[in-house]
Amino acid sequence: MRFNKWVVTSAWPYINTVPHLGNMIGSVLSADVFARYLRLRGCDVVLVSGSDEHGTVIEVEARRKGIEPQKLTDDAHEYVSKLFRAWGISYDNYTRTESEVHKEFVSDLMLKIYERGFIDIREQIIPFCDFDRIYLPDRFVVGTCPHCGYEDARGDQCDSCGSLLNPEELISPKCVFCHNKPVFKTTKHWFFRLDKIEDLVKDWLEKHEYLDGNVRSYATSWIKMGLKPRSITRDNKWGIKAPFPGADEKTIYVWFEALLGYVSATIELFKMRGLEDKWHEYWFNKESGTAYFIGKDNIPFHAIILPAMLLASGEGYNLPTLISSTEYLMFEGQKFSKSRRVGIWIDEALEILPDPDYWRFTLIRMRPEERDTNFSWAEFMRVVNSELNDDIGNYIHRVLTFINRFYNGVVPTASKYSTIDYEFRDKIASSLRSYCQHMDFAKMKAASDVILELARAGNQYLNTKEPWTKVKTDKEDASTTLYLGFISVYALGLMLFPIIPNTAMRIFRVLNQDVNGIKLNCDESLLNIPPCKVGKPEPLFKKLDTNFLQNVDAIIAEARRKAQSKRPDVLKW
Ligand code: MF3
Ligand code: ZN
Repeated sequence: MRFNKWVVTSAWPYINTVPHLGNMIGSVLSADVFARYLRLRGCDVVLVSGSDEHGTVIEVEARRKGIEPQKLTDDAHEYVSKLFRAWGISYDNYTRTESEVHKEFVSDLMLKIYERGFIDIREQIIPFCDFDRIYLPDRFVVGTCPHCGYEDARGDQCDSCGSLLNPEELISPKCVFCHNKPVFKTTKHWFFRLDKIEDLVKDWLEKHEYLDGNVRSYATSWIKMGLKPRSITRDNKWGIKAPFPGADEKTIYVWFEALLGYVSATIELFKMRGLEDKWHEYWFNKESGTAYFIGKDNIPFHAIILPAMLLASGEGYNLPTLISSTEYLMFEGQKFSKSRRVGIWIDEALEILPDPDYWRFTLIRMRPEERDTNFSWAEFMRVVNSELNDDIGNYIHRVLTFINRFYNGVVPTASKYSTIDYEFRDKIASSLRSYCQHMDFAKMKAASDVILELARAGNQYLNTKEPWTKVKTDKEDASTTLYLGFISVYALGLMLFPIIPNTAMRIFRVLNQDVNGIKLNCDESLLNIPPCKVGKPEPLFKKLDTNFLQNVDAIIAEARRKAQSKRPDVLKW
């Protein structure tokens, strides 16, 4: 691993809604798995994120509900934070954009950028909806993309070709709330001179060795079009006050401040720990890395805007080391949609199956790493029953049961190796190596393939070696088999740890290992683990019953009803 210190982050969810499974795999869960992997490798990691609570969506939604935006975000933040904990997300700080530390940091950094000459005032034409009586910033105007002709483009960005847009560029613009045509009004706004920082951003992108293909191509194509000044103030009341002289009525555009939350959340974390300056080690030390987990619609903001702001500050902040951007997860072949109720939301998921490990594992298996993927209940059931239960769970159970039955739980030592034993031993070592190679680049779906291959190879190995007969005819051979079986279970526990931490902990407890001391080294050291006494295994997983698919609609309806009843009013449908 290149760095010993890391800030790992997930995109800050808009807090007007409960996240769904697509949000989870796109950012939150992926970031957690990566952070847990790095910790397991012995790195010093802070995992931070928070609720993105400003901006027009929240303001409009609160107005429609007849409450203050702050009331909406207070209740929603509390509920969603609790859900993330229930999902086993190991945030060191899950904060919010209303936090005082964040507001102060944004204000200071914006002023710094302003003082360094990267912000100036311009007149801007802003769409105003006469019907809703609000300015409609960027993404609340939809229309046809002038670059590719996609008809559902938003005013900030086209989801089809990825171009960043300004609302007045849209062909036939409409207000998203009421579908009326907005009027365009002229007001003064503060602009971030992306054009002045373009060369530095370009240089950073070109020299970056680790950027994923999709991130690099989006970002470079955007740079090729030339970076233009972008307005960073808004006329909204709900938000962070713009600190510039003469900007009293304005707030900072939600994207530009939320992105800075990655830094402010780290500052806040160490402030809470009473170590005020410690955050410098994570953000300025060139031996520290930063990793971002985002859906692909967030690429330009993380690969261009965030580095541009950090560079413009002139403070020497670390620029992104790794930006892991997933494609889209579909739900039974459709886009997730709250209005059409297509999808599963993370509180409903836990009503269906309360152990988050089932969801964590299946989502990682379906992670849209290279292309869009599809969540279907049939696939969910296949992964749980055949991969998690049969391939992994049964293998581990078989090994531990045999060690108990034939050796009273004392792991035997291996004295005699034949070719097939050497092969299996090599398989364990090579699995660990390739698992780490994938995980280092946050390819966790690929890493999970390695886990399954090892478990299947293990089952195959047992079937061929038949320790249950050999224990009577060739005890030394049975001992080697079960010693390597033990080592492979240990290896599986390690590799499963970041993905399904609760289950992995149970595995290590049966193996009588101190879970706090567990470290993943990618060398052969694992093969020298001293044998020990293992406990009696309980089955790790339960299969979904054969009627699951037939009953799934009723199961979802029941889960949805229960989840709704637990939600705060502001999040009820
Ligand atoms: N709230 C945004 C979204 O859900 C993501 C913001 S990421 C941040 O698309 F970095 F700006 F916080
Ligand atoms: Zn409107």
